[in-house]
Amino acid sequence: MKAAFITQPGPPDSIQFGEVPKPTPGPNQLLVRVGAVSVNPIDTYIRGGLIKWTLPQPFIVGCDLAGVVEDIDAGVTRFKRGDRVWGSNQGLLGRQGTFAEFAAVDEQWLYPTPINIADEEVAALALVSITAALGLVNRAQLRAGEILFVNGGTGGVGSVVVQMAKALGARVITTAGSDEKVAECRKLGADLALNYKTEDVDAKVREFAPSGVNVWWETLREPNFERTVPLLATRGRMVMMAGREAKPVFPVGPFYVKDCALLGFAMFNAPAEEQRVCAEQINRWLAEGKLRARIDRVLSLSQTAEAHRLQEENTIGKQGTLAGKIVLKP
Ligand SMILES: NC(=O)c1ccc[n+]([C@@H]2O[C@H](COP(=O)([O-])OP(=O)(O)OC[C@H]3O[C@@H](n4cnc5c(N)ncnc54)[C@H](OP(=O)(O)O)[C@@H]3O)[C@@H](O)[C@H]2O)c1
Repeated sequence: MKAAFITQPGPPDSIQFGEVPKPTPGPNQLLVRVGAVSVNPIDTYIRGGLIKWTLPQPFIVGCDLAGVVEDIDAGVTRFKRGDRVWGSNQGLLGRQGTFAEFAAVDEQWLYPTPINIADEEVAALALVSITAALGLVNRAQLRAGEILFVNGGTGGVGSVVVQMAKALGARVITTAGSDEKVAECRKLGADLALNYKTEDVDAKVREFAPSGVNVWWETLREPNFERTVPLLATRGRMVMMAGREAKPVFPVGPFYVKDCALLGFAMFNAPAEEQRVCAEQINRWLAEGKLRARIDRVLSLSQTAEAHRLQEENTIGKQGTLAGKIVLKP
């Protein structure tokens, strides 16, 4: 089968596209004929060697997938041949990745694709929507009526956090780096969308949330706590999920005197049962039209190196040329 793979960590050009052996399903695994995959920043960290996991050889890149069940091991109970499925968590913690024509995936990491939802859509949502659900529901316990702030309302994670927070009944403030993206944030449901390049974000947040922000979801890799802690409400929660190298100054006084909490997490630490509860809720929101993928572009699997370059230029290089997810199709 055709796949996008590396034989050792390196720059985007180290990704090769070519023939690798087609996998066969192991115990409790399904063989998925891949319809679509999507790129996440973590794919570029693994490929580049920033995250050092022991990788299969060759290592097929990528975490997310959607497609059709082609074959199953006898131990599989929840799916049958021909079912449409989506999932994430592949290519992580030493597992083989998904950027291929076929992927052998443990049953525990797959969920049924709702009818009328395209593979491109669920593939684009996979890792980012499970991340948003884990952070908003399990960690921050966002409640209806609370105010949530998230940077990057058209970004991979940000665009889903905006929509899920609205689905949970919160009032949502978000930012983006251009007026076109700000307009897109409003279409996704944001109550207040600000251009972080041209507007005084802190002043507008104070005006919208005079008693402070209840949940601050930080997507930036270099958080500025001196700016953000004073904007938190009493009992405010701050979600940290990016910035492996960051060592920012932290203003302790303004934080503890308001009974605030700092909640860090990485989605790949969550057990399969916890992620499945998130996926079931995501499927309900998809079916109800409360959640949609923000897809920037769809490329061919043979363009994986280009997709990694583009993702890196944006997430790390902050070029602002992407607004959402890069989806690829075999
Ligand atoms: N812990 C976890 O489990 C987990 C899961 C998923 C992702 N992550 C991490 O979360 C981060 C975001 O991931 P992603 O997929 O959402 O990346 P992304 O799609 O590249 O989004 C980054 C966002 O940051 C915004 N941004 C850049 N500079 C900004 C600034 N100065 N002020 C406000 N917003 C700014 C961008 O907005 P503009 O385009 O408008 O400039 C963009 O929307 C990455 O570091 C990723 O590794 C962690």
